[in-house]
Amino acid sequence: MKRYKLLVVDDEKDILRTLTLTFEEDYEVFTARNGMEALSVLERQEIALIMADQRMPEMTGVELLQRSIHIRPHAIRIILTGYTDTVALIQAINKGHIYQYVTKPWDRQELRVTVKRALDSYELLMENERLLAELRAANEQLRDENTFIKKELHKDLKFSEIIGHSAAMRRVFDLVNKVIDTPVTVLLTGETGTGKTLLARYIHYNGPRKDKLFVEQNCGALPEALLESELFGHKKGAFTGAVYDQKGLFEAADGGTVFLDEISEMSPLLQVKLLQVLQEGRFRRVGDNSYRQVDVRIISATNKDLDTEIKNNRFRSDLYYRINVFPIHIPPLRERLEDIPLLADFCLKKYRRKMHSPVSSFSEEVVHELSRYSFPGNVRELENLIERAVLLSSDGRVEIGDWLPQPCYNPGVSSRMEQMERSEIIRLLEIHHGKHHLVARDMGMSRTTLWRRLKYYGIQIAEEAGISGRTAS
Ligand SMILES: Nc1ncnc2c1ncn2[C@@H]1O[C@H](COP(=O)(O)OP(=O)(O)OP(=O)(O)O)[C@@H](O)[C@H]1O
Ligand SMILES: [Mg+2]
Repeated sequence: MKRYKLLVVDDEKDILRTLTLTFEEDYEVFTARNGMEALSVLERQEIALIMADQRMPEMTGVELLQRSIHIRPHAIRIILTGYTDTVALIQAINKGHIYQYVTKPWDRQELRVTVKRALDSYELLMENERLLAELRAANEQLRDENTFIKKELHKDLKFSEIIGHSAAMRRVFDLVNKVIDTPVTVLLTGETGTGKTLLARYIHYNGPRKDKLFVEQNCGALPEALLESELFGHKKGAFTGAVYDQKGLFEAADGGTVFLDEISEMSPLLQVKLLQVLQEGRFRRVGDNSYRQVDVRIISATNKDLDTEIKNNRFRSDLYYRINVFPIHIPPLRERLEDIPLLADFCLKKYRRKMHSPVSSFSEEVVHELSRYSFPGNVRELENLIERAVLLSSDGRVEIGDWLPQPCYNPGVSSRMEQMERSEIIRLLEIHHGKHHLVARDMGMSRTTLWRRLKYYGIQIAEEAGISGRTAS
């Protein structure tokens, strides 16, 4: 069976006949006498290669080939012409709409080679398309599974799993209770690791939208173009690799909640698009002209001061008023010290279960140290510390010696927890060859916090250049 279908278009009968004779042995050849006839063949047949004469009445070859892109986007386009210098032709070639032009009169053998080569490229392209489609399908499936797992995981999230009996946290819980049954837009603020993501999930999974999706997106994690398509979706052909129409998170979460983490990192363009969702409930997929309507609750979070971002022209004030309808600030752990023992106990139970460990309590010395420490990484840091302690402890109780490294003699370092943190930072700096962002990630703190800690502990480090000196260890 002949593998590929060719379409040759020319208003001269003789040329059509010659071309048919040249190719009919190897390919299935279709002919058309003008542009309209050609478009109708393209609609009906899966044409792999179109070869068109440039000079035809009504529709030129270039016009036809450009229109054919909408019907057969992957077909190879060749133009036959006696005139190589027309502006339209050059533009079409430059835009990549035309694979090649062949000047008249052509050499039969050469033309056969050109077509053969072009079809080799077509074959590769189609293979890529097939692989991409497979990848995409696998990806979609993973995303569905992931969403399902997340849904299952958080379905039963209860206040009992958000620990805190301090007055500060009780105020937070009161605010959450006021807003939970409404569709009101919420802005969660607080330092890294204070529980913003946890609270956003709680609000969704305990409110009226819980049976619809909760989708979260970190606005600082993707470059602008990718984030735009992730949030709003795209139309097939909107950019290279956009081989299908794709829904974004806003559409996926219709009826549910979109959680926009690190909202301050959103680019100005996307801030405008988000403003439109908030004001009019509508947006456009990338590359699409029509608007889509969605009903989503938006919860955003940031550990930056948005007022400063506005003053520095990095954040739109009109968007700020829209996302800040109901602000909830989660205070840092150092301002609610009474929560530390409860949280420590909660984490101990969690990791003990997870690791099948016999550890069930802390020594008094450990409890004392925990309450003296400032936890720049907040609950996340506390959690990490306890996870490590459970792992390292050999008997039923976490002793200070089990997990605190040898003291280091920095006069500025007051508690043993701080000594431990200092040593841990130095250890990570060595492992990561001085790369601050990796150290901050492993410590569960922001780079700014890490920077402050480095100064506080007197560790003089040249970023990315490794440890240059440990002043007081
Ligand atoms: N009150 C709390 N009770 C129990 N666990 C908590 C509490 N607050 C935070 N956590 C836990 O601490 C970790 C960090 O919390 P979360 O990811 O919600 O912080 P975040 O404020 O979103 O941080 P970031 O700004 O870095 O995104 C999570 O594992 C979370 O479950
Ligand atoms: Mg978070």
